[in-house]
Order: sequence, then C-alpha cells, then structure tokens
Amino acid sequence: MFPMQMNSKTKMPGRTPGALLPFLLLTLALNLNSTLAQEDGDHQYTSEAIAEGLRVYTQQCALCHGPQGDTIDGIDLRRGVFRTATSDDDLREIVTGGAAEGRMPAIVLRDEELSGVIAYIRAGFDPSGIAIKIGDPERGKVLFEGKGECASCHRVNGIGPRTAPDLTSIGAQRTPSSLQMNLLDPPTALLPINRPVRIVTRNEETVVGRRLNEDTYSVQIIDSQERLRSLLKTDIVRYEISDAPSKQPTTLTSEEVADVVGYLLTLRGLQ
Ligand code: HEC
Ligand code: HEC
Repeated sequence: MFPMQMNSKTKMPGRTPGALLPFLLLTLALNLNSTLAQEDGDHQYTSEAIAEGLRVYTQQCALCHGPQGDTIDGIDLRRGVFRTATSDDDLREIVTGGAAEGRMPAIVLRDEELSGVIAYIRAGFDPSGIAIKIGDPERGKVLFEGKGECASCHRVNGIGPRTAPDLTSIGAQRTPSSLQMNLLDPPTALLPINRPVRIVTRNEETVVGRRLNEDTYSVQIIDSQERLRSLLKTDIVRYEISDAPSKQPTTLTSEEVADVVGYLLTLRGLQ
C-alpha cells in the first residue's frame, strides 16, 4: 500500500550521504503526487479517509445511530441499509442537509470529514476494510446501456442477450467490491461456473458457450447462438474449461465505474 511505501521512503534520507538528498526529495515529491492522484482518481477511498471517518462518526453520528449504526429503525449504516439514499452523493446530501423533517439535523463538516464518514460507512465500519465508491444509479443505467456497452452482452429484466450472465438480481447476490472487480479486473473476478467452455461431441460438433448447470452425467450450456443445450457427458469427447474471461477490463473512468456499480446494486430481481 502507498502509505507504507511513503514511510520507508521518508526514513531513507537519514541513512544516505548528503549529495543524494536532492534526488531523494525529488522521488519523494513524485511519490507524493502519485499518492494524491490515486486519491482523486481511484475507485475506492483511502484507509486515511476511513480512519478520519471513524473519528467523525464517533463524535457526530454515534449518539443517534449507535456504535454499530443500527439503533434507528429501518436503518443499518454498517450494512448499507438506508431509507432513501443509494449513492455517495445522496449520503453527502443527507449529512449536510439533514433528514426526516429535521429529526436528523444538518451537520456541518469539512470536505475531508464528510468524505471520511462516507468512507467509514462504505467500509462497513471496518477501519481496515475496503470502501468502494458508489455513484449515481441513474447515470449508471445510462452508461450500462450506452457507452459501457454492458447491455450488448448482458440481460436485465428480460431484455438483452443470454450469452453472458443475466444481471437482473446481481445487486442482491454480489458485494459492491466484487461487482467493481468484475469491471476492472475480469480475470480475478471470474467465478468457476462462469468460465467459458468448449465442448466437442461424439458426432464431431463443437459447442462453445457458458455453463448454466453441471452434474455428474450432464452439462447444460447456453451456446454462442443463445441456444440452451443439454449434453450427456457420455456423448462428449473433449471438454475444455477456459481460465480466460470473455471480456476486457472496462475503459470507463473511475467515476463512471462508481455509477455503474451504483446501478448494479439496485438490480434486485424482476421489476
Ligand atoms: C440527532 C440524531 C442524529 C444524528 C446526530 C445523526 N443522525 Fe442520521 N438519522 C437520524 C434520523 C432520525 C434519521 C431518519 C430516520 C427516518 O427516516 O425515519 C437519520 C437518517 C440517516 C440516514 C438515512 C437517510 C435516508 O433517507 O436514507 C443516513 C445515511 C444517516 N442518517 C447518516 C448519518 C451520519 C453519517 C451522521 C453523522 C455525520 C448522522 N446520520 C447523524 C438521526 C441522526
Ligand atoms: C463482451 C461481452 C461483455 C461485456 C461487453 C460486458 N460483460 Fe460482464 N460478463 C460477460 C461474461 C461472459 C461474464 C461471465 C464471465 C466473467 O465473469 O468474466 C460477465 C460477468 C459479469 C458480471 C459477474 C456476474 C456474476 O455472476 O458474478 C458482472 C457484474 C458484469 N459482467 C457486469 C458487466 C458490466 C457492468 C458491463 C459494462 C461495463 C459488462 N459486464 C460488460 C460478458 C460481458
């Protein structure tokens, strides 16, 4: 992690001859820049932000929401259960504007404090946790259907192709971080059942597709023409399961990825 790297760098000048010092300061400055850049453009909040959030939460929120964030009926901040909020911006507005006709007062915080308390909530109140940025679901839906090209492979609420997994309930099935990982790093996120398969049958037909189900005797797949096929294993002469995901990491910006993750989290079954 970056903070660790910074620490070992900051210690070095003490052990190094004076002539090298300018160089070291330069590397230090460059490192600082990339740390800042990471904070701005990254997909998640830093651990410093989460730590700051713990402090703010304890002072400003715990009195009403409790140490675990679940003392107000219908709200569980640690688990991400809110009444109206979805995105990080919604959370910002609630804190700075108040909620429930003033029963939650508007709270004045500095920018770092505000980002911190959101980071702390998104990290599930775990100071060493990961706090994924969650953007606006409506913008995310537009990106999903347009620029992100997700809808060209994925089906949602009965619309779209069947070659890739149906995402109609994905928000109820996966965590924000696994959704984000699927977009940024498909090979790492690839689930065993989702690995593409290539099958050669006894009558020399090659079937390429995605498994829906498999047992000892048979395998059901959606082939590349979106046909549902059920094959008996006794009819299969070659059965290859690929490790390579059938998609590339997304080229969307980190803000856009946050929006798409926000949208995916709203997909909780047929609507
Ligand atoms: C004086 C008590 C009080 C304090 C302090 C307080 N809240 Fe609240 N909070 C409430 C009440 C009451 C509600 C609304 C419950 C409802 O809608 O019935 C609420 C609702 C919320 C919601 C859900 C809103 C929605 O519509 O989805 C969030 C998120 C939230 N608070 C976060 C915070 C954070 C973060 C802090 C600290 C910066 C904080 N609250 C401080 C009382 C408080
Ligand atoms: C070229 C086709 C293609 C495109 C474009 C594509 N995906 Fe996928 N996606 C797949 C396939 C195939 C899988 C299953 C294999 C895997 O996980 O890599 C998958 C898996 C997923 C999963 C995980 C499903 C699970 O069961 O956990 C999510 C979430 C997802 N995609 C979302 C998206 C989003 C959002 C976009 C747009 C930014 C997108 N995909 C673009 C083909 C695609």
